[in-house]
Amino acid sequence: IVADILDLFSPDFGRVPQAVMNHPAVLDAELERIFTTAWLFVGHESEIAEPGDYITRRMGRDQVIVTRDEQGEVRVLRNACSHRGTLLCKATSGNTSHFMCPYHAWTFDNTGRLRGAPEARKAYGPGFDRADHPLKQARVGVHQGLVFATWDPEAPPLAEFLGDIAWYLDMLLGTASGGWEVAGPPQRYLTSGNWKISCENFGGDGYHLPYTHRTPIEAGLFGEDDDDGSGGKPHGRVVWTPQGHTARIGYMPPEVGGPPYWGMSDGLRADFVANATPEMLQVLDNADVVHGNLFPNLSFIFTAITYTGDEPDNTSFLIFRMAMPVDAETTEMVNILLVPRDATPEWKQRSVLACVRTHGAAAVLFEGDDFDNFASVSATGRGVVAQGSTLDYSMGLGLPVEPDDWPGPGESAPHDHSERTHRAFYGAWLRAMKGEKP
Ligand code: FES
Ligand code: FE
Repeated sequence: IVADILDLFSPDFGRVPQAVMNHPAVLDAELERIFTTAWLFVGHESEIAEPGDYITRRMGRDQVIVTRDEQGEVRVLRNACSHRGTLLCKATSGNTSHFMCPYHAWTFDNTGRLRGAPEARKAYGPGFDRADHPLKQARVGVHQGLVFATWDPEAPPLAEFLGDIAWYLDMLLGTASGGWEVAGPPQRYLTSGNWKISCENFGGDGYHLPYTHRTPIEAGLFGEDDDDGSGGKPHGRVVWTPQGHTARIGYMPPEVGGPPYWGMSDGLRADFVANATPEMLQVLDNADVVHGNLFPNLSFIFTAITYTGDEPDNTSFLIFRMAMPVDAETTEMVNILLVPRDATPEWKQRSVLACVRTHGAAAVLFEGDDFDNFASVSATGRGVVAQGSTLDYSMGLGLPVEPDDWPGPGESAPHDHSERTHRAFYGAWLRAMKGEKP
């Protein structure tokens, strides 16, 4: 059945089978072919700053413990006892050097080694070797504090997997001298709709902004609207890479102008500008948002529009979001909000407010608009007539992209009238589903 569904893709990715948005067999194949081979985001280094710190996360449906061992090395351990598979660690975060299984008390250190099994000699005889019973470990890679892991011993190094999108991550995260840290534990919430719908949207769907998000536009957050349908609307540049990573940089209408360097307070703004390259500053000039998706399921958004009332500064927020498949039509969102470590406590608090009012379970603006659309893309595919249908991703296929002086790496197009990011995502997705390397 999965092979039949994959056959419905058009070779140019202008048509995508709707069944990829809701078929359980497709999800099973994704978990096997994509979530065990790609580098998956599992957390931010600041969540496990000290030796013994740990968080529990999922890689696909596999539960993992992400921990910093006593030597300071980051480890990603399967959260399942090597004896009978019991969930070893039920907490979502904490600090410990050892994990003791609740079932028969096998005890593992935070490098994954079995250190004790009750009455082991008596129970198993003198041949019992603890070294034969470690926790399974994933490979770990870190870029700008973002911790990734993969189960695939053959996967390319993380830097190769990230490719040109790394430059955009460096632009967001590498320009703060003090680095970034999480503002508290992640917000987690269940949404209806397949995990890919939110990823492709975050990855570059500028087309939906004036329509899905009509309310904030009418409220004047993007400047004055006008009658010809062009002014007063956000516009963007889309970027994509062969690995299926994508981004969109949104710009304010010139008459409104972007907030000075991300709505950072004065001291931080100078620091960011000093650390950024001239190319990065050119990309960010007049921008009010950078959002994107790292293949497969790590979305991000950095935006600087103020929603916090009449504070003196615009206040930005930066979230990284894992879209975790629960089933083919249900996705658990895990949102991590990052703040510059050197920001004042007051600024960090404003950033939290700006974030939760627009993104997350209780968002009044933006995110609430999106979720109903996301849910229905999966839901309409349940119909009988829906079977075998395909969805349209052809925007921009007939339009040439003229080379220009865009200073960032990756392939890019200078407008929102493009579904090139979506096609790059599904191109990488289809290659992975067919077992091909990027
Ligand atoms: Fe963990 Fe038996 S299942 S000790
Ligand atoms: Fe949206």
